[in-house]
Amino acid sequence: MQSKKLKKLLTIVLVLFIFSSCTKDVIVTDPPAIKAPVVPGQISFSGRIQPIFTANCVKCHKVGGVAPVLEEGKSYQALMNTPGLINTAAPASSILYQEMAPGGSMSSFCTVADSDSTYKWISQGAKNN
Ligand code: HEC
Repeated sequence: MQSKKLKKLLTIVLVLFIFSSCTKDVIVTDPPAIKAPVVPGQISFSGRIQPIFTANCVKCHKVGGVAPVLEEGKSYQALMNTPGLINTAAPASSILYQEMAPGGSMSSFCTVADSDSTYKWISQGAKNN
C-alpha cells in the first residue's frame, strides 16, 4: 500500500514537473512573439515615437537644453532640420536610431522595442503621422 501511494505521489510530481517544464518552454519561445507586434504595421510618429521622447528624453532634450529638442510639437522639425539624425534611405545609419539602439549613448533611456519602432518609423519614410 505504502509503495503504491509513493508511486502515485511520484507520478503526480513527475506530471507536475513535465507540465512546468512545458510552461517554461513556451516562455522561452515567447520573446520573438512579444517583440513582433511592436514592429508590424504603420508606426505613427504622434502615437508611438513622440510618447517615447516625452516619457524619456525631454528632461534633457528641451528648449534651452540639449539638441535636438524632442518636446511635443517641436521634435519633428528639430529632427528633420538636423542633418544626419534621420536618413530614410539608410535607416540604420540615422543618428537618432544609432543613439537609441543597444550600445548607443541614449540606449539607457529607452527600450529595444522603442529603438526598433524608431527604426521602423524611419524606414517607413519618417512621416509626421
Ligand atoms: C540625462 C540627459 C539626457 C537624456 C534623458 C537623453 N539625452 Fe540624448 N543627449 C544628451 C546629451 C548630453 C547629448 C550630447 C552628448 C552625446 O551625444 O552623448 C545627447 C545627444 C543625443 C543625440 C545626438 C544629437 C546629435 O546631434 O548628435 C540624440 C539623437 C539623442 N541624444 C536622443 C535622445 C533620445 C531619443 C533620448 C530618449 C530616449 C535621449 N536622447 C535622452 C542627454 C540626454
